[in-house]
Amino acid sequence: MIDRRTLLAGASAALSAPALGRLASPVAFVDDPFQLGVAAGDPDHRGFVIWTRLAPRPLDPDRGLGARPALVRYEVSENPSFSTLVAEGEAVARPELGHSVHVTLDALQPDRVYHYRFIAGGERSVAGRARTLPAPGAEVAAVRLGVAGCQDFQSGLYTAHRHLAGEDCHAIFHYGDYIYEYGPRAAVFSWGLGQMVPTVRRHGGPEIFSLDDYRRRHTEIRLDLDLQEAHRSAAFLMSYDDHEVVNNWAGETPPGDTPPELFRLRRAAAMQAWYEFMPVRADAFPANGLSGVFRQYRFGRLLDARLLNTRAFRTDQPCGDRFGSLCPEIRNPGAEMLGRAQEDWLVRGFGEARWNALLQQVMMMNLERGRDPEPRGVNVDSWAGYLAPRDRLLARLERVRNLVVLTGDEHQHWAGEVRRSDARPDSPAQAIEFVTTSISSGSDGPGTRPEHAEILRRNPGLAYIRDERGYTLMTVTPEAWTAEMKVVDTVRSPGGKLSTHARFRVPAGTARLERA
Ligand SMILES: [Fe+2]
Repeated sequence: MIDRRTLLAGASAALSAPALGRLASPVAFVDDPFQLGVAAGDPDHRGFVIWTRLAPRPLDPDRGLGARPALVRYEVSENPSFSTLVAEGEAVARPELGHSVHVTLDALQPDRVYHYRFIAGGERSVAGRARTLPAPGAEVAAVRLGVAGCQDFQSGLYTAHRHLAGEDCHAIFHYGDYIYEYGPRAAVFSWGLGQMVPTVRRHGGPEIFSLDDYRRRHTEIRLDLDLQEAHRSAAFLMSYDDHEVVNNWAGETPPGDTPPELFRLRRAAAMQAWYEFMPVRADAFPANGLSGVFRQYRFGRLLDARLLNTRAFRTDQPCGDRFGSLCPEIRNPGAEMLGRAQEDWLVRGFGEARWNALLQQVMMMNLERGRDPEPRGVNVDSWAGYLAPRDRLLARLERVRNLVVLTGDEHQHWAGEVRRSDARPDSPAQAIEFVTTSISSGSDGPGTRPEHAEILRRNPGLAYIRDERGYTLMTVTPEAWTAEMKVVDTVRSPGGKLSTHARFRVPAGTARLERA
């Protein structure tokens, strides 16, 4: 028999065809079983995970497959015609995991592009493309990294994902808010326009709580062809933020007045669905209802990228979780953002590459963002609400040179300098942070908001804010880190045009932002 561990390990375990044959009856599909597309993720220098999910009837609770497991064949090639295969095999799509398939490829060559596809019941998927990371000691001339997230389905189309698919990225960091838990809405509030704007499409069911609910929500979103194109184009470095479960959850603390045991049930359902739909390694499989991975991606000697989890191990938000407020709790010495185990892991061996990046969810810059009627305040859900662990981490990273922080959550592009909260504003910065705007959340933005000038004036280390939808493209070389702020002119109708609104450069050896 195949135990769970062997199955999850996929191709790295020796799955014998006869054993699979007993488990999985042959399937012939009435409808295309690959309507959810394919994806790759979590690359290292030996391979990556390839993913698909059989769903001939995607929105049916059993996906049109009943309770039967099904055999899926996979093929991996160095050329798009698949004329020769460098890896192939079979995996089981199990009903317990919603007929998802995760195969870990681990015998590929470093720094090479591969193509992969799946075959089941005589049907063949589209092909995806992914690139292995350079070997840990390799000298690397350049890395192109896409950054995206916050893709509220109802607020806008995924046009930016379609453009991102064409960027030839080595990998794409997704900072989370892949789904939103809300029910169907006729309109959403636009902070940029200061008014309600109609949604462009609707969710098919109410706010989500159960495993079936979360599966259906992921399915609705994954049927989007622009999103599928982005996944096909490169391996994703996947994380989650709050909306994969529920708005502003914090570690073990449920939001609002939800009883803790009900929150844990909901979180377990959300985590299982997240694992099922994401191209992530077997160690992301939820344990006791929580997927709590943090991860290192090493691009040779050029870049050490650490993907953090700022949601699962944090203490509760201070100040009653009111945006733009300020209270003594933001200096609570007992607060945690990463938790000690993750923080200790992060500082170990970090700083040895030419560039060192934190890939994470909520803003690290400690910005003054008071909104009327409160004269002073911060985003208490971000690192600015957790100053003790923030300053402790920055102190522990003091010797790390060429430190860049990549963030999301804000639904706007931001760029600026990171300093400890007790540092003088004119002291050298410790890191540069690039906050990437949303793919669709917030719907079309005005670009400049009325309050931007005041925010820039109050925060001298802040260089840039832009309220439009899009993504960021990072180009990392030994000489410089370049960030291109990409935006689309609309997400409210198809065909939104892409442009680069700003380009910043951080010369190696500095923590200084230059317009490029
Ligand atoms: Fe978001």
